[in-house]
Amino acid sequence: DESEIGTAGDPSRLIVVSNRLPVTLAQNGNEWSFKLSSGGLVSALSGLKREMSFTWVGWPGKDFGESDRQKINSLLKENSCGAVYLDDETAELYYNGFANSILWPLFHYHPGEMIFEDVAWDAYQRANQAFAESLLDQVQDGDLVWIQDYHLMLLPRMLRKLLDERGLHSVKIGWFLHTPFPSSELYRILPVRREILEGVLAADLLGFHTYDYARHFLSSCTRILGLPSAPNSVECEGRVVHVGTFPIGIDPEKFAEALKTPEVQGRLQEFEQKFKGTRVVVGVDRLDYIKGVPQKFLAFEHFLTQHPEHVGQVVLVQVAVPSRGDVEEYKQLISNVNELVGRINGRFGTVEYTPIHFLHKSVTFTELVSLYAVSDVCLITSTRDGMNLVSYEYVASQQQRHGVLVLSEFAGAAQSLNGSLIINSWNIEEVADAMYQALSMSAEQRAANFNMLYKYVTKYTAAYWGVSFISELKRVSQAADELAQL
Ligand code: G6P
Repeated sequence: DESEIGTAGDPSRLIVVSNRLPVTLAQNGNEWSFKLSSGGLVSALSGLKREMSFTWVGWPGKDFGESDRQKINSLLKENSCGAVYLDDETAELYYNGFANSILWPLFHYHPGEMIFEDVAWDAYQRANQAFAESLLDQVQDGDLVWIQDYHLMLLPRMLRKLLDERGLHSVKIGWFLHTPFPSSELYRILPVRREILEGVLAADLLGFHTYDYARHFLSSCTRILGLPSAPNSVECEGRVVHVGTFPIGIDPEKFAEALKTPEVQGRLQEFEQKFKGTRVVVGVDRLDYIKGVPQKFLAFEHFLTQHPEHVGQVVLVQVAVPSRGDVEEYKQLISNVNELVGRINGRFGTVEYTPIHFLHKSVTFTELVSLYAVSDVCLITSTRDGMNLVSYEYVASQQQRHGVLVLSEFAGAAQSLNGSLIINSWNIEEVADAMYQALSMSAEQRAANFNMLYKYVTKYTAAYWGVSFISELKRVSQAADELAQL
């Protein structure tokens, strides 16, 4: 609850640091405007904003000249955000290069896509250092700094060093990973595996979505750095670093409120009219190779082949939000997916019937909620996914219809969302069978499943996640301070 942070009796302030800010800036002539950024991290932290006040520090997405910076800084400040500027070359090699071409594929079990380059590693170090220096101007003793995700794994150590040099010893640092942490057998491939582990180990508390990710991290610390570990901690340079599991959630209220608006109700009616007599399967993903979109299309093709009576009766609406388009693997994915859509629509389509509605664009929140609400099934086929909040968003929008959630066992959400149909997304036949099962499920079964899911999604929210992490960060830090005073 809000009383946790920043009240008179408690001088600690919270600073959240992530690569991506919640807003993406766009310039129209002389005017700057904001668009909400996409992705699980932004959606969860935006949900936390409802409960806790914090300053959000991050990279504004590109470099800006001195005159623009002033304007942007004041716009961001109005929204309790602060910018860390990186020159274009550093940003390209750090974000597209090291973060998204090395750590992202490795953490999602795609080592084939990992191309290690020293220039990218150098840029990653430079960018993390730039974050540390920028934070130093803002942090006061006693503050809590909560660092997010794989982009900033060197930051805890770099920041700690600068703080120690300034004598700011009572700043508490937390770090949370929004992706999976892979098995140590895979993680050890990374040429800079030691430096990355040592980077995060300077924090006081490390958080993961699932127990498995935390366990893989601890094994890596033991096997690669030879550090002694317990189930919830690891010892490093005489300090105990705490490790915990904090499954993230969404802000379900936002969906419940949107569903009541005339805009969503109007759009929903239009969709119901358009899809009259047709069952709708929905998919919403950033267009990323970890989301298993090709597998989803192949499974839909298999479903239509096995159940010809459903041809003309079931459509798949797939929203694919453009993402990281400068990275080669993402470019290849786009052409692969386009080809599959063309082939399947060519094979099963008629003048009246388009099997796959493929939207390679972002959609407005009204459109998104209406689409979730009108769909009979939500199909999530990630081949690896830290959590996957689309599954939560679908549940939050299904109070009326009690649609079925088909969820990959390789998404972190599968560990929490009892009431979904769990599938191995690599097994095309199994996914096709699950679609059939979902479309044939009785209303009683759907209601029973929905009730279980809805209870979970509305209890374990983004706010719950954030408050749990911050309370734990305070608890472990206080315990360490008390120990040091003995
Ligand atoms: C994942 C990552 C986030 C990231 C998001 C969107 O959820 O864990 O850190 O913000 O994807 O990706 P982008 O590269 O656009 O920030």
